[in-house]
Amino acid sequence: MELDNGRDRPLASRHLLGLEGMSGTEITHILDAAEALKEILDRPIKKVPTLRGVTVVNLFFEASTRTRISFELAEKRLSADLVNFSKTGSSVSKGETLLDTARNIEAMRVEVVVIRHQSAGAPGFLAQRLNSVVINAGDGFHEHPTQGLLDLLTLRQKFGELKGLKVAVIGDISHSRVAMSNLYGLKALGAEVMLCGPPTLMPRGVESLGAKVCHNVDQALAWADALNVLRLQLERQHSALLPSLREYHQTFGITRRRLEKAGRVPVILHPGPINRGVEIESAVADGNESVILDQVTNGVAVRMAVLVLLSTPEVALKGE
Ligand code: CP
Repeated sequence: MELDNGRDRPLASRHLLGLEGMSGTEITHILDAAEALKEILDRPIKKVPTLRGVTVVNLFFEASTRTRISFELAEKRLSADLVNFSKTGSSVSKGETLLDTARNIEAMRVEVVVIRHQSAGAPGFLAQRLNSVVINAGDGFHEHPTQGLLDLLTLRQKFGELKGLKVAVIGDISHSRVAMSNLYGLKALGAEVMLCGPPTLMPRGVESLGAKVCHNVDQALAWADALNVLRLQLERQHSALLPSLREYHQTFGITRRRLEKAGRVPVILHPGPINRGVEIESAVADGNESVILDQVTNGVAVRMAVLVLLSTPEVALKGE
C-alpha cells in the first residue's frame, strides 16, 4: 500500500466540517487515500500503526449505527486510542453545555474530535473553539461529509469516474444532510445531480446550487444512472409534511415495478437506516443493482483516509 499525502495536494482545512467548498482535487485525494487504505480491511490482521499515539474521541449526541461503528473500526484499524461518548449517561443530562463537555474532554489530551450532533453547525462551533481536529459525523440537516465521500467512492468504483454521471437523490431533501453532502461532492467532481421529492420536502432555491429539481420519481428514474434513496427524516420534521407513509410509498417509493416500467436499471444507493416498504422496497434494496452494503464497507476506508489525512498531515505511508 502506498498513500501519497504529498504537500503539493494538501487538504485546505485542518477540519472536515462539510464538502461545501471542497475542490474536486481535494475530494479525489481523499478517495484515492481511501482506495489505498481499503486493502488493510482484507488482511488477516487488519491493523497498521499509522495513528499510534493519536487519541480520538467519538462524541455522539444523536443515534447512529453505521457512522459510529465505522469511525470506531477505522480508528482501531489505524491503532489510534479511542474514547466513545454518548449523550445518554453523560453530564449533558445534568445541564453541561456542548462546549464545556468538549473542552473537558480536550483537557484530557485528545487530538481528534469526531462529532455527531442534532444541531446544524455544532462541529463548526467546536472547530472555532478547540485546538483538536474536528470531524463532522453528521450535524442536523446541514452535512454528513464522510457519508458523502463514501457515496462518491462507491459510485467511482461502480462507474470508473463521476464526470458526467447522472445521480438522482430521492426523498426528503429538506431534512437531509446526506443530500447536501452528495450535492456538493458530486458537483465538485463534475457529476449532474437531480433532487427529486415532494414539494413540501424540497428546500427553496436549491437550483442555485446547481441541482435539477423534480417532483416526479418516474422522470428521475428515466434520467438517472444512479439513485441515492433517502429515508424520511421524521425526527426532523416538525409539522405534517406528508399525507401518510403509505401515500409517500405509492408516489415516491422505489419499487421493482417502477424500475421495470422505467426500462433501465440504475445503481441503487441508500445511506441507511432503511425503512423498508416506505422509501424503498426490499426487492430493490436487496437486489442486484443495490450497492448499499458496498457503501458500508467503503465507509470504514473513507473514515480511515480522513483520519490519516487530518491527523498526520506530513505522513506518507509506504508499504505498511
Ligand atoms: N448513514 C448513517 O449516517 O447511518 P447512521 O445514522 O446509522 O450512522
